[in-house]
Parts: sequence; structure tokens; C-alpha cells
Amino acid sequence: MNILVIGGGGREHTLCWKLKQSEHCKKLFAAPGNAGTAECATNLSIGVSDFEKIKIAVLDHQIELVIVGPEEPLVLGIHDFFLKDPALMKVGIIGPKKKAATLEGSKAFAKAFMYRHNIPTAAYKEFTSETLVKAEAFLEKSNPPYVLKADGLAAGKGVLILDDLKQAKKELRQMLLEKKFGKASRKVVIEEFLNGIEVSCFVLTDGKNYLKLPMAKDYKRIGEEDTGLNTGGMGAVSPIPFVDDLFEQKISNQIIKPTIQGLKKDKIPYKGFIFIGLIKVGDEPKVIEYNVRLGDPETEAVIPRIKNDLVELFQSVQNESLDTIKLEIYPEVAATVMAVSKGYPESYQKGKIIKGLSKDKMIFHAGTKLIDEKVQTAGGRVLAVTSMAKDHKTALHKTYETLSKISFEGIYYRKDIGFDL
Ligand code: AMP
Ligand code: GLY
Repeated sequence: MNILVIGGGGREHTLCWKLKQSEHCKKLFAAPGNAGTAECATNLSIGVSDFEKIKIAVLDHQIELVIVGPEEPLVLGIHDFFLKDPALMKVGIIGPKKKAATLEGSKAFAKAFMYRHNIPTAAYKEFTSETLVKAEAFLEKSNPPYVLKADGLAAGKGVLILDDLKQAKKELRQMLLEKKFGKASRKVVIEEFLNGIEVSCFVLTDGKNYLKLPMAKDYKRIGEEDTGLNTGGMGAVSPIPFVDDLFEQKISNQIIKPTIQGLKKDKIPYKGFIFIGLIKVGDEPKVIEYNVRLGDPETEAVIPRIKNDLVELFQSVQNESLDTIKLEIYPEVAATVMAVSKGYPESYQKGKIIKGLSKDKMIFHAGTKLIDEKVQTAGGRVLAVTSMAKDHKTALHKTYETLSKISFEGIYYRKDIGFDL
């Protein structure tokens, strides 16, 4: 069948790389894709939320399966758009409908869902400009650090963690009254601070059954030893040594199963990936957020560990027969390190020529473009290099070895990914 992957980052390149290995994949397209996806798919110059142009491409290229990478088109209702259109309604879509995507699109919706279904998470309250006085009183009663979250999508910037009460009140007013994050902060969730290690858990569900993918750890800060500004993610490893069988069982029983059952009870059909961001507090897992997509760069470490044919997995999602699939995982460790542009995560340079790319290594393109036959940087996060080996140390060593041969002006990557394992 012909398949379209929507998105243009490292996650989408990894998905294309894996889909291309399937005997069921005839023609593969990426919209908009990048210089990496161009090696295994045909790039279509279409924005991820340009539904009308996506429709034309799907019909022109007789696409039967669409995999939606990023959250934006899902939250805007791409799945509903396909279902409503007689010409598109038979096309399979991996990614939830708008209502279910609200799990990522509204923190307040996600928190209410977790409370309703007894899923462990931080205690919280939600406020609007009308309830600002109550919100300030709530902050006064709470203990620092104060966690403020813009309700809506804010490009990963909508969460503030502050030690100082005065500062927290100031930020709160900016969010609610001055719309610091635009519409996204018309509502603010204030929640308890959870102290622990973060784990990324991925589930693929057909709405009835689910498969738990390998767990991963993401390194979010720009600086070594987890210092400096937050980024989209600077590296990932999978599996995680501190996630043992008992902890995985707790995640399954206390979080994944109630999440899938909760969706069913609330009559929210869901076909696609659920990314559950967890914190291990003591020995207990607690949910910090749901995302309705795969993580990036976690995908670059998780997908290469999956043995199964990805098209077959997606067909089973379509047919609601995921219970007939046995997920097979390579025992090797995967280690991913992200190379970024100078300045990232603040304003950064683009258009730098990349040298030293090798075809026989797992080099996933995150922000690149092919211009005049040359691969150039086109984003803050540029390349995600993954290696697999028998243990973390060897996998990381191989990844750094590959990275040492790659260059572009201003290249930066953390040299300490996996340092804490
Ligand atoms: P979110 O967008 O909700 O995942 O939040 C972004 C990041 O903020 C998370 O990855 C955590 O590092 C941190 N964070 C969010 N909520 C909490 C919390 N309740 N306690 C501690 N850290 C948090
Ligand atoms: N790496 C975190 C995310 O994809 O949101």
C-alpha cells in the first residue's frame, strides 16, 4: 500500500526508515519531510496542518494509510476531517480524533480524565482570569516549587516551575491577564511539584487493545548534567536500567490499563500512539502528561528496537486486532544523541552545510533540507544519531564515534547522555 507520514522531524524520519523496511509498503511519502526522509520517501511540500492539500495528495497518490507524527494536526482534527469526507473516509489514520487529542491539547482536560479514572498524578486545581484571587490564595497555601501550566498547546514552553512565591504570582497574572501564552493560557493548571526521575512510556492502541512499547528516558536540558534551558530533547536511551519488572507492572496496572479503559468508558475512541510522561516518585509512577503522539527523540531510540513489521502493527490498529500481535523487541540497548544548531533552544542559525553523513549508520534527520544537492541545517535540532549495542556504554560510545565524524558550523551536542545510568 501507499503510505504518507505527516511531519518533518527526527521522529518522522525514523518512522519512514522503519516503514520502508516493510514488504507491505509500496510507495512512501512524507509531508513535508526533510533531507533524511528524502532518502527513503518522496517529500511533499505540504504543511502538517494544511488539510486540503493533504487531501489532494492522498487522492493523487492513492494513499491508503496516513501516520500523523506531530500533535498539531491531531489537535486540529485531521482524523475527523478524513472521516467526514466521503473521498477520504476509507483511508486509515494512525492518530486520535480531535476529542481524544484534547488529552494533549488541554492540561485541564487531561487532569480531569486522570482524576475521574483514578490514575495517579499530581494534585491540582485549574483557574481562569475570573478566579485569579482564588488562584493566588491557592499558591499561598501551596509549597514551593510552584508548577504553573498553560492549559493549551504552547510549543513545549507552557510549563513554569518557580521557587519564589512572588515570582509565581507574577507569572500567573501574566498568563491569565496578559495572555503570556496567547489563548493557551486563558486557563492555568497549578499543580503539586513531583520530585523524581522522568520516564517516557509509549502505548499503541486500537481503542480496545494495546501494546506497550519499550520505555525510554529523554534528556531535556540543553546543558550537561541536566542544566540550562529546556529543549525538545537532547538525547534518549532505551531500555532504562531503573525501570524494573515490578515498576513496569505498576505502570501497566495503575496507569496504562485505566487509561485505555477510561477512554472506553468516556466513549472516546482512540487509534494511535499514547505517550505517557511519567515521574517515578519513590517507587511509584505518577503521570505528568499525556501526549497523543510519539516523543522525539525517544522515537529514534524506541522504533529501532522493534522487530515487528510496522505496517502490520498499523493494520492491526485499523482492524482493532492488536490483541493478535505479539510485540517483539530486540534485546540491544539503543542510545540516541541529538546534534543541534548554535543558539538552540533560543534563536539559532540555519543553512549550514552538513558534512560527514554516512548511509550505513542510523542518522535520523530532525531539521535538515536538501538545497542544491547539499544537506543543510534547517532547524534547532538537526540530527539524531542512534546506535545499538549489548549495553548502554557501548551503544553510547558508538553514537559518539559517529557524531565525531559529522560537522556543520556551530554544531553542539551533549557529551554526557546516559551519564546517570
Ligand atoms: P509537561 O509539558 O506537562 O510535560 O511539563 C514539562 C516538563 O515540566 C516535564 O517534562 C517535567 O520535567 C516538568 N514537570 C511538569 N509537571 C511537573 C510536576 N508536577 N512536578 C515536577 N515537574 C514537572
Ligand atoms: N521528547 C519529549 C517530547 O517529544 O515531547
